[in-house]
Amino acid sequence: MTIQTANLSGIDIRAEIERLRKDRNAVILAHYYQSPEIQDLADYIGDSLELSKKAATTDAEVIAFCGVRFMAETAKILAPEKIVILPDMDAGCSLEDSCPPEKFKAFREAHPDHIALTYINCSTEVKALSDVIVTSSSAETILAQIPPEQKIIFGPDRHLGGYLSRKFNREMVLWPGVCIVHEAFSETELIKLKAQHPGAPVAAHPECPPHIIDHADYVGSTSGILKFATEFPGNTLIVATEPHIIHQMEKALPGKTFIGAPGADGQCSCNICPYMALNTLEKLYLALRDLKPRIEIEEGLRLAAKKSLDAMLAMAGGTVGKGDLGPA
Ligand code: 13P
Ligand code: SF4
Repeated sequence: MTIQTANLSGIDIRAEIERLRKDRNAVILAHYYQSPEIQDLADYIGDSLELSKKAATTDAEVIAFCGVRFMAETAKILAPEKIVILPDMDAGCSLEDSCPPEKFKAFREAHPDHIALTYINCSTEVKALSDVIVTSSSAETILAQIPPEQKIIFGPDRHLGGYLSRKFNREMVLWPGVCIVHEAFSETELIKLKAQHPGAPVAAHPECPPHIIDHADYVGSTSGILKFATEFPGNTLIVATEPHIIHQMEKALPGKTFIGAPGADGQCSCNICPYMALNTLEKLYLALRDLKPRIEIEEGLRLAAKKSLDAMLAMAGGTVGKGDLGPA
């Protein structure tokens, strides 16, 4: 995208963000995958479900969403009267990209007696075509409420869908999407890392493929993994999700060691989400200054998408922060 190329030299970006946050009556929401400098100045940090709930209930007039576009769109769907800004409108998601609405519509139509249980990592259009949205921290609670005889299609993440299907021993028709970040972990390198740290548990996000999940001691959402990090009895934890989450672990537990699970090169740099990384402090400053890029959603589409999100919020109950999917 064309970034506003204002000359920012000589500007104290942090001080300006502070000033604008007050002047604009803005709240800064950040996902755990954002850079530490963004996490550190956010008003709230959370997983997808927590940030949706915060967006729906905030008194602020402006929501500065430091996450990816589907998260900011969710905020706008739930809080249409607010101005929702996203520092970089190109902050997409490979799962969303894998699931074009017209193809998803055909998928739905090919399964007329199924309900569409859909991961929140999708476009507003796909939400509008779905019955119930889930996040990784609410998926299990929600699935448990769907009668066993009800047939289900699940998209767009085949790994989260496959994990739920195996855990619940419940057949679901899966859309073939993947997260490019969680797909990049290497089983061979993970086994080597485990050998170097005998006894260190592995906590994994359910977007990981089964060959990584098979090595996990705990599987859950970002908030669930964080909770596990505060509770596990040892000193070293191997973390199989986007490595920026480790910032919160190191802040909460400075005496413990957190190691990002490796990619094929033995490093974890390939597991940084390239979409989340598009947001920077500079772009956040410009977004607060100019109140753009702004999320806008046509009202009919918003109302259609809101139905499946409302169903999620009604069925998710008190899952926020509890983290969810539990031991592997
Ligand atoms: P969480 O809901 O666990 O925060 O996951 C969001 C996400 O995009 C993971 O890749
Ligand atoms: Fe999408 Fe994966 Fe990035 Fe999450 S980590 S936003 S699922 S590409």
